[in-house]
Amino acid sequence: MSASPGRIAPKKRPGRRLAAAPTAPSVGATGIDAPSDSIRIRTRGLTKRYDDLVAVDHLDLDIHAGEIFGLLGQNGAGKTTTILMLLGLTEPTSGAARVVGLDPSRGPLQVKRRVGYMPDSVGFYGDLTGRENLRYTARLNRIPAELTETTIDEVLDQVGLTDRADDKTDTYSRGMLQRLGIADALVKDPDVLILDEPTTAIDPLGVTEVLELLRRLVRERGMAVLLSSHLLNQVQSVCDRIGIFASGKLIGQGTMEQLAARFGDGRREVEVGLDLPQGADDRHAREVLRKVPGVESLDDGPRPGDPWTLTVAPGSDPAAVRSAVLAAVAAEGLPLASIRAVLPSLEDVYRRAVARPATAAAARPRPSNEDTPAAEDTPAADARADLDRVPAAAPPPVRVVAPDPVEPVTLPSDPPSPEEKP
Ligand SMILES: Nc1ncnc2c1ncn2[C@@H]1O[C@H](COP(=O)(O)OP(=O)(O)OP(=O)(O)O)[C@@H](O)[C@H]1O
Ligand SMILES: [Mg+2]
Repeated sequence: MSASPGRIAPKKRPGRRLAAAPTAPSVGATGIDAPSDSIRIRTRGLTKRYDDLVAVDHLDLDIHAGEIFGLLGQNGAGKTTTILMLLGLTEPTSGAARVVGLDPSRGPLQVKRRVGYMPDSVGFYGDLTGRENLRYTARLNRIPAELTETTIDEVLDQVGLTDRADDKTDTYSRGMLQRLGIADALVKDPDVLILDEPTTAIDPLGVTEVLELLRRLVRERGMAVLLSSHLLNQVQSVCDRIGIFASGKLIGQGTMEQLAARFGDGRREVEVGLDLPQGADDRHAREVLRKVPGVESLDDGPRPGDPWTLTVAPGSDPAAVRSAVLAAVAAEGLPLASIRAVLPSLEDVYRRAVARPATAAAARPRPSNEDTPAAEDTPAADARADLDRVPAAAPPPVRVVAPDPVEPVTLPSDPPSPEEKP
């Protein structure tokens, strides 16, 4: 990762379209082809069954250009299966998906040309260098030869692999392979980036850099990013919207604020830090803050000197309380160091979301072509059981596997196909 990452130039290679490509109107999946300039990924009633197991259950999603959407869920919740259906790598049992306006079941190769994909297990040719692997990807994606080297240099820099670019990938650490996986997804200058567990093997500073890179790609190139993860902090810090997945069902989706309003415990808090000398008499300051209209109680932080937590009284608006605190502090001349409204953490929200009891509507069996209610209204019946059954989430091991299917083109000096490799 470059030490001072430069601006990402908004770019589209000549002849590349950003807008969704036209598709034939679908039958039986309501709204799937409704016109929209900004939607890059849309699913309606998307379902995948493996015999008796419903891996993905009537998924309705809209993901827009310029946003990062996080699919959050336990092991086995259905995240990877969803992603595979979006790429046309597995066929839905029912329902429909559109990615950049294309039907992945009918045109997986066209979808792959427009979508950068990093699988949960990245695979590269170990006897080629990182740069050579990217050249291979560039040729498969028909990137003009005169652009290949500058594009590769740029993406290697973006993921912080420039120094190791000319080493063989069988000498790479797991985190380096994951960084190369992100570079590989970026080489084709995609409109949509789909990343399955993108940061599980990357060290903490590297994770921060990768998440910053994703934010820049979204902000400066208007990309749509879908990432799956079970790492709550990362999802909360980088995603504009989050979908909570449990047992194949999307039990809630929205911004952190929307999820907190729906699944939070209703408590609203304002955290206030005062810059008082150690051991100073703080009784007056406490009294001032307790008397602010809308403040129910004041609690100390875990350590001496930590900010105090003001609990907002039921029915009071936290923003109004925050303003009233600011006014009181100014009127009394108290040395304010910090003030912020506290939202529940994604961990709180997630625990509450998956622990919600099923409603009759959610438990009712639904015909496969019935219009599905909003995903927000369908809590998972067995989500609690899922949480109990599954051990604490552990990062899946990165194993080197065959590269995912790519468009067959004849290259004069192709590396051997995965099947030919020893
Ligand atoms: N090819 C398959 N055949 C049968 N069952 C499958 C298949 N692929 C996935 N499943 C099942 O579908 C469910 C969803 O799996 P999926 O891989 O989508 O979960 P996930 O959310 O990606 O989990 P993880 O966090 O472990 O990656 C699981 O119960 C899994 O066992
Ligand atoms: Mg998975």
